[in-house]
Amino acid sequence: KNTKKILLLPGDGIGPEVFGPVRDILEHLVTSGHVRLEWEEGLIGGIATDRTGLPLPPDTIEKADRCDAVLLGAVGGPKYDALPYEKRPERALLGIREHLGAFANLRPARLFPELAGSSTLKPEIISDLDLMVVRELTGGIYFGKPRGIVTDQGVRRGINTETYTEPEIARIMRVAFDLARTRRKKVTSVDKANVLESSVLWREVAVSVHKEYPDVELSHMYVDNAAMQLVRNPKQFDVLVTGNLFGDILSDEAAQLTGSIGMLASASIGGKTGLYEPIHGSAPDIAGKDIANPLAMILSLALLFRYSLQREDLAGVLEQSVQNVLKEGYRTTDIQGAGTKKIVGTREMGSLVFHELKKVLEN
Ligand code: NAD
Ligand code: IPM
Ligand code: MN
Repeated sequence: KNTKKILLLPGDGIGPEVFGPVRDILEHLVTSGHVRLEWEEGLIGGIATDRTGLPLPPDTIEKADRCDAVLLGAVGGPKYDALPYEKRPERALLGIREHLGAFANLRPARLFPELAGSSTLKPEIISDLDLMVVRELTGGIYFGKPRGIVTDQGVRRGINTETYTEPEIARIMRVAFDLARTRRKKVTSVDKANVLESSVLWREVAVSVHKEYPDVELSHMYVDNAAMQLVRNPKQFDVLVTGNLFGDILSDEAAQLTGSIGMLASASIGGKTGLYEPIHGSAPDIAGKDIANPLAMILSLALLFRYSLQREDLAGVLEQSVQNVLKEGYRTTDIQGAGTKKIVGTREMGSLVFHELKKVLEN
């Protein structure tokens, strides 16, 4: 059977809003005969807790298991912040990543030239920016044990553990080196090896896996310096590979180089089913206002076509459609700047991309 199946998980806050154009796009791609695809919808995050009592219901896991890829909006919100860790929406996100074995999180920070005037950084610093953050996603301090809040001798203590095994480091390094081979052949491994043993091992394994990739250049950088270098001279980077927590932080920083966090898509691969999501969250401060930028969501669908369905052609069509809309000067508020002709809301931006997609497909 060659009909592919994908699971849609809009989630909370702006998740369902930025998901708007996704169904129209899928519907059109199917009816126009460009792809054989079915999709179903599921619950994750706060909305899943509201409806079922659990942030990651078994039904969602079962659906994910029978799909070829999962597309996710965002989870979380103030309403759920007081819940214990196991019931939090964020826990569901970690749970599905872990369940799918999606250990390699690719976060491509590429600047659309149209947005060179939209970043808070000077255009010359970011023009032609094309860096790939490879974030380890199912290990590190997010998952390390022991964890929890304990009381010893009347004093409460919060505990988390940063831990990486050699195989965990080796497999994420291979993803980074393989990607670098398709790009500018430069890997920067980011760690805190001057302080943390987990990073000492990280660096050792990076060096040893690098021996399989003599054609790729490897350098190492401490995470504090990397944070600074990202805003000083981001174009020095090609592939940046790092652990779960450092990657989370540095990729939000990298997103701003491309104009807005609302522009950055991600692909979580390495397991049997890929997971695709924008890197931003549920943005409670703007949820329900029809102003969120849906482009990171749409670009995540492009990554799904690229990495899970092996449809580079359709990934390209989606990316081209986004670029054409930007070229015409349409902007959501987060990416306004030089070149803006019209500020549009979430829905309008979504339908602009959808209509552009139809045109691109016809040509
Ligand atoms: P956030 O990414 O939701 O928002 C950070 C800032 O960026 C906010 O000012 C927001 O308005 C803005 N922003 C985010 N996405 C945008 C978009 N598409 N268009 C325009 N502006 C956008 O991060 P936060 O505020 O730290 O977290 C809010 C909630 O989201 C929390 O519950 C957090 O745990 C959760 N979260 C979820 C994910 C995810 O589901 N993958 C990621 C990050 C945070
Ligand atoms: C992200 C988010 C998540 C993370 C949170 C919500 C668990 O910040 O996808 O970047 O830290 O991985
Ligand atoms: Mn994050």
